[in-house]
Amino acid sequence: MTAMRQAFQATIVHCLEDPGEHSTPSAYEHFEDGLLVVADGHIEALGDAGDLLPTLGDDVLVTEYRDKLIMPGFIDCHVHYPQLDIVGSYGEQLLDWLNRYAYPAEAQFADPNHAREVASAFVEQLLLNGTTTALVFGTVHPHSADAIFEAAAARDMRLIAGKVLMDCHCPEELRDDAESAYRDSKALIEKWHNHGRLGYAITPRFALTSSAEQLTAAGRLAAEHPDVWIHTHLAENRGEVDEIERLFPARRSYLDVYDYYGLLRRRAVFAHCLYMDDADRASMSAAGGAAAFCPTSNLFLGSGLFDLSAMRAANIRCGLGTDVGGGTSLSLLKTASEAYKVLHLQDHALPAMRALYLATLGAAEALYVDEHIGNFLPGKEADFVVLDPAGSSLTARRMATTDTIEEALFALLTLADDRHVAATYVSGRVQHAL
Ligand code: GUN
Ligand code: ZN
Repeated sequence: MTAMRQAFQATIVHCLEDPGEHSTPSAYEHFEDGLLVVADGHIEALGDAGDLLPTLGDDVLVTEYRDKLIMPGFIDCHVHYPQLDIVGSYGEQLLDWLNRYAYPAEAQFADPNHAREVASAFVEQLLLNGTTTALVFGTVHPHSADAIFEAAAARDMRLIAGKVLMDCHCPEELRDDAESAYRDSKALIEKWHNHGRLGYAITPRFALTSSAEQLTAAGRLAAEHPDVWIHTHLAENRGEVDEIERLFPARRSYLDVYDYYGLLRRRAVFAHCLYMDDADRASMSAAGGAAAFCPTSNLFLGSGLFDLSAMRAANIRCGLGTDVGGGTSLSLLKTASEAYKVLHLQDHALPAMRALYLATLGAAEALYVDEHIGNFLPGKEADFVVLDPAGSSLTARRMATTDTIEEALFALLTLADDRHVAATYVSGRVQHAL
Protein backbone atom coordinates (compact mmCIF):
# COMPACT_ATOMS: atom_id res chain seq x y z
CA MET A 1 0.00 0.00 0.00
CA THR A 2 1.35 3.44 -0.84
CA ALA A 3 1.58 6.03 1.88
CA MET A 4 -1.08 8.73 2.16
CA ARG A 5 0.61 11.86 0.86
CA GLN A 6 -0.35 15.51 1.04
CA ALA A 7 1.45 18.72 0.21
CA PHE A 8 1.02 22.26 1.52
CA GLN A 9 2.03 25.28 -0.53
CA ALA A 10 2.78 28.59 1.22
CA THR A 11 5.66 30.70 2.44
CA ILE A 12 7.48 28.36 4.82
CA VAL A 13 10.02 29.09 7.53
CA HIS A 14 11.72 26.91 10.15
CA CYS A 15 14.89 26.83 12.26
CA LEU A 16 17.79 24.40 11.97
CA GLU A 17 19.57 25.65 15.09
CA ASP A 18 19.61 28.69 17.43
CA PRO A 19 19.97 31.81 15.26
CA GLY A 20 21.36 33.64 18.30
CA GLU A 21 21.33 37.37 19.05
CA HIS A 22 22.64 38.15 15.56
CA SER A 23 20.20 36.01 13.58
CA THR A 24 22.74 33.75 11.85
CA PRO A 25 21.29 33.12 8.37
CA SER A 26 22.40 29.47 8.17
CA ALA A 27 20.34 28.73 11.30
CA TYR A 28 17.02 28.91 9.50
CA GLU A 29 15.44 28.20 6.12
CA HIS A 30 12.86 30.29 4.31
CA PHE A 31 11.00 29.34 1.14
CA GLU A 32 9.02 32.23 -0.29
CA ASP A 33 6.97 29.84 -2.45
CA GLY A 34 7.51 26.66 -0.48
CA LEU A 35 6.07 23.18 -0.41
CA LEU A 36 5.80 20.90 2.61
CA VAL A 37 5.20 17.27 1.67
CA VAL A 38 3.62 15.07 4.35
CA ALA A 39 3.25 11.31 4.25
CA ASP A 40 1.46 9.33 6.97
CA GLY A 41 1.68 12.18 9.45
CA HIS A 42 5.42 12.77 8.98
CA ILE A 43 7.47 15.26 6.95
CA GLU A 44 8.65 13.77 3.68
CA ALA A 45 10.15 16.82 2.02
CA LEU A 46 10.45 20.59 2.18
CA GLY A 47 11.61 22.85 -0.61
CA ASP A 48 10.68 25.32 -3.32
CA ALA A 49 7.28 24.57 -4.80
CA GLY A 50 8.73 25.03 -8.29
CA ASP A 51 11.20 22.19 -7.67
CA LEU A 52 8.99 19.81 -5.75
CA LEU A 53 5.58 20.08 -7.40
CA PRO A 54 6.69 18.37 -10.65
CA THR A 55 8.09 15.43 -8.66
CA LEU A 56 4.78 14.63 -6.97
CA GLY A 57 2.41 12.03 -8.36
CA ASP A 58 -1.17 12.88 -9.35
CA ASP A 59 -2.45 11.19 -6.23
CA VAL A 60 -0.95 13.84 -3.93
CA LEU A 61 -3.47 16.33 -2.62
CA VAL A 62 -1.96 19.83 -2.72
CA THR A 63 -3.46 22.39 -0.33
CA GLU A 64 -2.61 25.91 -1.38
CA TYR A 65 -2.29 28.44 1.42
CA ARG A 66 -1.82 31.51 -0.73
CA ASP A 67 -0.26 34.49 1.12
CA LYS A 68 -0.03 32.43 4.29
CA LEU A 69 2.99 31.49 6.38
CA ILE A 70 3.63 27.91 7.52
CA MET A 71 5.94 27.24 10.45
CA PRO A 72 6.40 24.37 12.93
CA GLY A 73 3.69 24.01 15.57
CA PHE A 74 4.41 26.06 18.67
CA ILE A 75 5.65 24.33 21.81
CA ASP A 76 4.68 25.67 25.25
CA CYS A 77 7.33 24.58 27.78
CA HIS A 78 5.32 25.49 30.87
CA VAL A 79 1.59 25.92 31.43
CA HIS A 80 -1.07 25.05 34.04
CA TYR A 81 -4.29 23.80 32.45
CA PRO A 82 -6.29 24.02 35.75
CA GLN A 83 -5.62 27.78 35.81
CA LEU A 84 -7.30 28.45 32.47
CA ASP A 85 -10.25 30.19 34.07
CA ILE A 86 -8.29 32.49 36.41
CA VAL A 87 -6.05 34.04 33.77
CA GLY A 88 -5.86 37.80 34.28
CA SER A 89 -6.61 37.91 38.02
CA TYR A 90 -5.76 41.25 39.60
CA GLY A 91 -3.03 42.42 41.77
CA GLU A 92 -0.82 39.97 43.67
CA GLN A 93 2.72 38.65 43.57
CA LEU A 94 3.39 34.92 43.49
CA LEU A 95 2.74 33.61 47.00
CA ASP A 96 -0.39 35.71 47.58
CA TRP A 97 -1.57 35.02 44.04
CA LEU A 98 -1.33 31.27 44.67
CA ASN A 99 -3.41 31.53 47.83
CA ARG A 100 -5.98 33.92 46.47
CA TYR A 101 -6.50 32.58 42.95
CA ALA A 102 -4.57 29.45 41.95
CA TYR A 103 -5.31 27.16 44.90
CA PRO A 104 -9.08 27.83 44.98
CA ALA A 105 -9.25 27.18 41.22
CA GLU A 106 -7.30 23.95 41.62
CA ALA A 107 -9.48 22.78 44.51
CA GLN A 108 -12.40 22.61 42.08
CA PHE A 109 -10.58 19.80 40.29
CA ALA A 110 -11.64 17.41 43.03
CA ASP A 111 -14.57 16.93 40.63
CA PRO A 112 -13.42 14.75 37.69
CA ASN A 113 -16.16 16.18 35.46
CA HIS A 114 -14.81 19.67 36.00
CA ALA A 115 -11.31 18.42 35.15
CA ARG A 116 -12.53 16.85 31.91
CA GLU A 117 -14.43 19.96 30.87
CA VAL A 118 -11.49 22.30 31.49
CA ALA A 119 -8.98 19.89 29.90
CA SER A 120 -10.99 19.76 26.70
CA ALA A 121 -11.40 23.55 26.58
CA PHE A 122 -7.69 24.01 27.31
CA VAL A 123 -6.58 21.76 24.46
CA GLU A 124 -8.92 23.64 22.10
CA GLN A 125 -7.33 26.89 23.25
CA LEU A 126 -3.83 25.50 22.60
CA LEU A 127 -4.79 24.53 19.06
CA LEU A 128 -6.46 27.81 18.19
CA ASN A 129 -3.25 29.53 19.26
CA GLY A 130 -1.15 27.26 17.04
CA THR A 131 0.33 25.30 19.94
CA THR A 132 0.74 21.61 19.16
CA THR A 133 2.85 20.46 22.11
CA ALA A 134 2.91 21.56 25.75
CA LEU A 135 4.44 20.58 29.07
CA VAL A 136 1.48 20.87 31.40
CA PHE A 137 0.83 21.03 35.14
CA GLY A 138 -2.30 19.26 36.41
CA THR A 139 -3.52 19.55 39.99
CA VAL A 140 -2.77 17.29 42.94
CA HIS A 141 -5.67 15.03 41.89
CA PRO A 142 -4.53 12.02 39.81
CA HIS A 143 -7.66 12.25 37.65
CA SER A 144 -6.52 15.75 36.58
CA ALA A 145 -3.70 14.02 34.70
CA ASP A 146 -6.09 11.48 33.19
CA ALA A 147 -8.29 14.32 31.93
CA ILE A 148 -5.54 16.23 30.13
CA PHE A 149 -4.03 13.06 28.64
CA GLU A 150 -7.44 11.96 27.36
CA ALA A 151 -8.05 15.38 25.79
CA ALA A 152 -4.62 15.38 24.09
CA ALA A 153 -4.92 11.78 22.92
CA ALA A 154 -8.27 12.55 21.28
CA ARG A 155 -6.39 15.02 19.05
CA ASP A 156 -3.21 12.92 18.73
CA MET A 157 -1.10 15.67 20.30
CA ARG A 158 2.41 15.23 21.60
CA LEU A 159 1.83 16.42 25.15
CA ILE A 160 3.63 15.92 28.44
CA ALA A 161 1.83 16.34 31.77
CA GLY A 162 1.69 15.19 35.34
CA LYS A 163 -0.21 15.22 38.59
CA VAL A 164 1.14 17.82 41.01
CA LEU A 165 2.98 16.74 44.17
CA MET A 166 2.35 19.04 47.17
CA ASP A 167 2.18 18.00 50.82
CA CYS A 168 2.89 21.15 52.87
CA HIS A 169 2.50 24.94 52.97
CA CYS A 170 -0.71 24.78 50.96
CA PRO A 171 -4.44 24.27 51.70
CA GLU A 172 -5.35 20.95 53.35
CA GLU A 173 -7.68 19.88 50.56
CA LEU A 174 -4.85 20.15 48.02
CA ARG A 175 -2.36 17.98 49.86
CA ASP A 176 -1.14 14.52 49.00
CA ASP A 177 1.66 12.88 50.98
CA ALA A 178 5.02 11.38 50.15
CA GLU A 179 3.67 7.87 49.86
CA SER A 180 0.55 8.63 47.79
CA ALA A 181 2.50 11.04 45.57
CA TYR A 182 4.93 8.26 44.73
CA ARG A 183 2.26 5.57 44.29
CA ASP A 184 -0.17 7.71 42.24
CA SER A 185 2.56 9.13 40.00
CA LYS A 186 3.96 5.65 39.37
CA ALA A 187 0.53 4.38 38.35
CA LEU A 188 0.08 7.36 36.01
CA ILE A 189 3.51 6.74 34.44
CA GLU A 190 2.51 3.14 33.76
CA LYS A 191 -0.80 4.25 32.30
CA TRP A 192 0.27 7.21 30.16
CA HIS A 193 4.01 7.47 29.57
CA ASN A 194 4.78 6.61 25.93
CA HIS A 195 1.10 5.94 25.33
CA GLY A 196 0.98 7.15 21.70
CA ARG A 197 2.57 10.59 21.68
CA LEU A 198 2.04 11.26 25.39
CA GLY A 199 4.70 11.57 28.04
CA TYR A 200 4.63 11.77 31.83
CA ALA A 201 6.26 14.46 33.97
CA ILE A 202 6.90 13.99 37.70
CA THR A 203 5.57 17.36 38.89
CA PRO A 204 6.55 18.59 42.37
CA ARG A 205 4.93 22.05 42.41
CA PHE A 206 8.01 23.73 43.91
CA ALA A 207 10.34 23.09 46.81
CA LEU A 208 8.13 25.21 49.08
CA THR A 209 5.16 22.83 48.89
CA SER A 210 6.96 19.49 49.11
CA SER A 211 8.40 18.10 52.35
CA ALA A 212 11.90 16.63 52.35
CA GLU A 213 10.22 13.23 52.49
CA GLN A 214 8.17 13.97 49.38
CA LEU A 215 11.16 15.38 47.46
CA THR A 216 13.02 12.17 48.37
CA ALA A 217 10.13 10.08 47.01
CA ALA A 218 10.04 12.17 43.81
CA GLY A 219 13.79 11.64 43.36
CA ARG A 220 13.39 7.89 43.87
CA LEU A 221 10.64 7.78 41.25
CA ALA A 222 12.79 9.81 38.85
CA ALA A 223 15.71 7.43 39.33
CA GLU A 224 13.45 4.47 38.59
CA HIS A 225 12.16 6.17 35.40
CA PRO A 226 15.08 7.91 33.70
CA ASP A 227 13.08 8.73 30.57
CA VAL A 228 10.14 10.51 32.21
CA TRP A 229 10.20 14.27 32.57
CA ILE A 230 10.52 16.32 35.75
CA HIS A 231 8.61 19.59 35.81
CA THR A 232 8.73 22.21 38.53
CA HIS A 233 9.24 25.91 39.33
CA LEU A 234 12.55 27.50 40.26
CA ALA A 235 13.57 30.93 41.57
CA GLU A 236 10.61 32.89 40.27
CA ASN A 237 10.07 35.46 42.99
CA ARG A 238 12.28 37.05 45.65
CA GLY A 239 9.90 36.23 48.50
CA GLU A 240 9.79 32.62 47.36
CA VAL A 241 13.59 32.41 47.18
CA ASP A 242 13.84 33.80 50.74
CA GLU A 243 11.44 31.12 51.98
CA ILE A 244 13.48 28.37 50.30
CA GLU A 245 16.66 29.67 51.96
CA ARG A 246 14.89 29.60 55.31
CA LEU A 247 13.49 26.07 54.82
CA PHE A 248 16.62 24.49 53.32
CA PRO A 249 19.54 26.24 55.08
CA ALA A 250 21.95 23.43 54.27
CA ARG A 251 21.56 23.84 50.52
CA ARG A 252 23.80 26.22 48.58
CA SER A 253 20.97 27.54 46.43
CA TYR A 254 17.37 26.91 45.36
CA LEU A 255 18.56 24.81 42.42
CA ASP A 256 20.77 22.84 44.79
CA VAL A 257 17.63 21.72 46.66
CA TYR A 258 16.36 19.99 43.52
CA ASP A 259 19.82 18.65 42.72
CA TYR A 260 20.20 17.22 46.22
CA TYR A 261 16.96 15.27 45.88
CA GLY A 262 17.84 13.87 42.44
CA LEU A 263 15.55 16.18 40.47
CA LEU A 264 18.15 17.93 38.30
CA ARG A 265 18.96 15.97 35.19
CA ARG A 266 18.14 15.66 31.48
CA ARG A 267 14.41 16.08 30.88
CA ALA A 268 14.04 18.21 34.01
CA VAL A 269 12.33 21.48 33.08
CA PHE A 270 12.40 24.44 35.47
CA ALA A 271 9.95 27.28 34.99
CA HIS A 272 11.23 30.84 35.46
CA CYS A 273 14.89 30.56 36.65
CA LEU A 274 15.09 34.29 37.40
CA TYR A 275 17.35 34.29 40.45
CA MET A 276 20.31 32.08 39.61
CA ASP A 277 24.05 32.63 39.87
CA ASP A 278 26.87 31.38 37.66
CA ALA A 279 27.32 28.24 39.76
CA ASP A 280 23.62 27.39 39.33
CA ARG A 281 23.80 27.93 35.60
CA ALA A 282 26.91 25.75 35.35
CA SER A 283 25.28 22.89 37.23
CA MET A 284 22.00 23.13 35.31
CA SER A 285 23.92 23.09 32.07
CA ALA A 286 26.14 20.16 33.07
CA ALA A 287 23.13 18.12 34.21
CA GLY A 288 21.17 18.79 31.02
CA GLY A 289 18.28 20.55 32.77
CA ALA A 290 16.23 23.11 30.86
CA ALA A 291 14.60 26.47 31.54
CA ALA A 292 11.13 27.68 30.56
CA PHE A 293 11.20 31.45 29.94
CA CYS A 294 7.74 32.77 30.84
CA PRO A 295 7.78 36.51 30.11
CA THR A 296 4.07 37.30 30.34
CA SER A 297 3.92 35.68 33.76
CA ASN A 298 7.14 37.28 35.00
CA LEU A 299 5.80 40.72 34.09
CA PHE A 300 2.23 40.12 35.22
CA LEU A 301 3.19 38.74 38.65
CA GLY A 302 5.97 41.32 39.01
CA SER A 303 8.51 38.52 39.36
CA GLY A 304 11.55 39.78 37.44
CA LEU A 305 13.50 39.59 34.19
CA PHE A 306 14.81 36.34 32.68
CA ASP A 307 18.43 36.58 31.51
CA LEU A 308 18.35 34.62 28.26
CA SER A 309 21.85 35.71 27.31
CA ALA A 310 23.40 34.32 30.48
CA MET A 311 21.39 31.09 30.19
CA ARG A 312 22.33 30.47 26.57
CA ALA A 313 25.95 31.50 27.22
CA ALA A 314 25.98 28.71 29.80
CA ASN A 315 24.57 26.35 27.16
CA ILE A 316 21.29 25.80 28.97
CA ARG A 317 18.38 24.56 26.86
CA CYS A 318 15.65 27.20 26.85
CA GLY A 319 12.12 27.36 25.50
CA LEU A 320 9.21 29.73 25.98
CA GLY A 321 6.40 29.00 28.42
CA THR A 322 3.07 30.80 28.72
CA ASP A 323 2.59 29.87 32.41
CA VAL A 324 -1.15 30.51 32.19
CA GLY A 325 -2.79 31.41 34.64
CA GLY A 326 0.14 33.46 36.03
CA GLY A 327 0.90 34.21 32.39
CA THR A 328 -1.63 36.25 30.47
CA SER A 329 -1.88 34.49 27.11
CA LEU A 330 -1.74 31.00 25.60
CA SER A 331 -0.31 32.52 22.42
CA LEU A 332 3.38 31.81 21.85
CA LEU A 333 3.32 34.78 19.45
CA LYS A 334 2.33 37.13 22.25
CA THR A 335 4.74 35.36 24.59
CA ALA A 336 7.61 35.92 22.13
CA SER A 337 6.65 39.57 21.87
CA GLU A 338 6.87 39.98 25.65
CA ALA A 339 10.16 38.06 25.64
CA TYR A 340 11.52 40.66 23.24
CA LYS A 341 10.56 43.45 25.65
CA VAL A 342 12.00 41.65 28.70
CA LEU A 343 15.33 41.26 26.89
CA HIS A 344 15.19 44.82 25.58
CA LEU A 345 14.97 46.08 29.18
CA GLN A 346 18.28 44.29 29.80
CA ASP A 347 19.98 45.66 26.67
CA HIS A 348 19.74 42.32 24.91
CA ALA A 349 18.34 41.53 21.50
CA LEU A 350 15.70 39.01 20.45
CA PRO A 351 15.57 38.87 16.66
CA ALA A 352 12.47 37.30 15.13
CA MET A 353 14.27 34.13 14.08
CA ARG A 354 15.58 33.52 17.58
CA ALA A 355 12.07 34.07 18.93
CA LEU A 356 10.78 31.51 16.43
CA TYR A 357 13.51 29.13 17.60
CA LEU A 358 12.48 29.55 21.25
CA ALA A 359 8.87 28.74 20.35
CA THR A 360 9.72 25.70 18.19
CA LEU A 361 13.07 23.91 17.89
CA GLY A 362 14.61 25.42 21.04
CA ALA A 363 11.59 24.32 23.02
CA ALA A 364 11.78 20.85 21.45
CA GLU A 365 15.44 20.66 22.51
CA ALA A 366 14.55 21.85 26.01
CA LEU A 367 12.02 19.01 26.25
CA TYR A 368 14.32 16.46 24.55
CA VAL A 369 11.72 15.82 21.85
CA ASP A 370 13.63 17.40 18.96
CA GLU A 371 14.06 14.03 17.28
CA HIS A 372 10.27 14.13 16.75
CA ILE A 373 9.25 17.79 16.39
CA GLY A 374 10.52 21.38 16.29
CA ASN A 375 11.24 21.82 12.58
CA PHE A 376 10.54 20.29 9.17
CA LEU A 377 13.45 17.89 8.74
CA PRO A 378 12.31 14.75 6.87
CA GLY A 379 10.98 12.07 9.19
CA LYS A 380 9.75 14.43 11.88
CA GLU A 381 6.09 14.54 12.86
CA ALA A 382 3.97 16.91 10.78
CA ASP A 383 2.84 19.37 13.46
CA PHE A 384 2.54 22.83 11.95
CA VAL A 385 0.71 26.12 12.04
CA VAL A 386 -0.60 28.20 9.16
CA LEU A 387 -0.44 31.91 9.98
CA ASP A 388 -2.44 34.52 8.12
CA PRO A 389 -0.35 37.71 8.00
CA ALA A 390 -3.55 39.59 7.16
CA GLY A 391 -5.43 38.15 10.13
CA SER A 392 -6.24 41.62 11.41
CA SER A 393 -6.71 44.84 9.48
CA LEU A 394 -3.67 46.34 11.19
CA THR A 395 -1.29 43.50 10.28
CA ALA A 396 -2.67 43.55 6.74
CA ARG A 397 -1.55 47.19 6.50
CA ARG A 398 1.73 46.52 8.31
CA MET A 399 2.68 43.64 5.99
CA ALA A 400 2.57 46.02 3.05
CA THR A 401 5.58 47.85 4.48
CA THR A 402 7.79 44.83 5.26
CA ASP A 403 10.50 43.79 2.83
CA THR A 404 12.05 40.68 4.38
CA ILE A 405 10.81 37.55 6.14
CA GLU A 406 12.59 38.75 9.29
CA GLU A 407 10.68 42.03 9.27
CA ALA A 408 7.37 40.39 8.52
CA LEU A 409 7.85 37.74 11.20
CA PHE A 410 8.90 40.30 13.78
CA ALA A 411 5.85 42.48 13.10
CA LEU A 412 3.64 39.40 13.37
CA LEU A 413 5.21 38.35 16.68
CA THR A 414 4.51 41.84 17.96
CA LEU A 415 0.99 42.25 16.61
CA ALA A 416 -0.53 38.85 15.94
CA ASP A 417 -2.77 36.66 18.09
CA ASP A 418 -5.21 33.80 17.59
CA ARG A 419 -6.97 35.70 14.78
CA HIS A 420 -3.85 35.06 12.74
CA VAL A 421 -3.81 31.29 13.24
CA ALA A 422 -5.58 30.17 10.08
CA ALA A 423 -5.05 26.47 10.76
CA THR A 424 -3.24 24.10 13.10
CA TYR A 425 -2.14 20.65 11.93
CA VAL A 426 -1.26 17.78 14.23
CA SER A 427 0.39 14.68 12.74
CA GLY A 428 -0.57 15.99 9.30
CA ARG A 429 -4.25 16.36 10.16
CA VAL A 430 -6.05 19.64 10.58
CA GLN A 431 -7.22 20.07 14.20
CA HIS A 432 -8.18 23.73 14.05
CA ALA A 433 -9.16 25.99 11.18
CA LEU A 434 -10.64 29.46 11.20
N1 GUN B 1 5.11 28.41 41.75
C1 GUN B 1 4.46 27.41 42.38
N2 GUN B 1 3.23 27.22 41.86
C2 GUN B 1 3.10 28.11 40.87
C3 GUN B 1 2.05 28.42 39.94
O1 GUN B 1 0.98 27.81 39.93
N3 GUN B 1 2.28 29.44 39.07
C4 GUN B 1 3.45 30.12 39.06
N4 GUN B 1 3.62 31.09 38.16
N5 GUN B 1 4.45 29.86 39.90
C5 GUN B 1 4.27 28.87 40.80
ZN1 ZN C 1 3.89 27.90 36.53
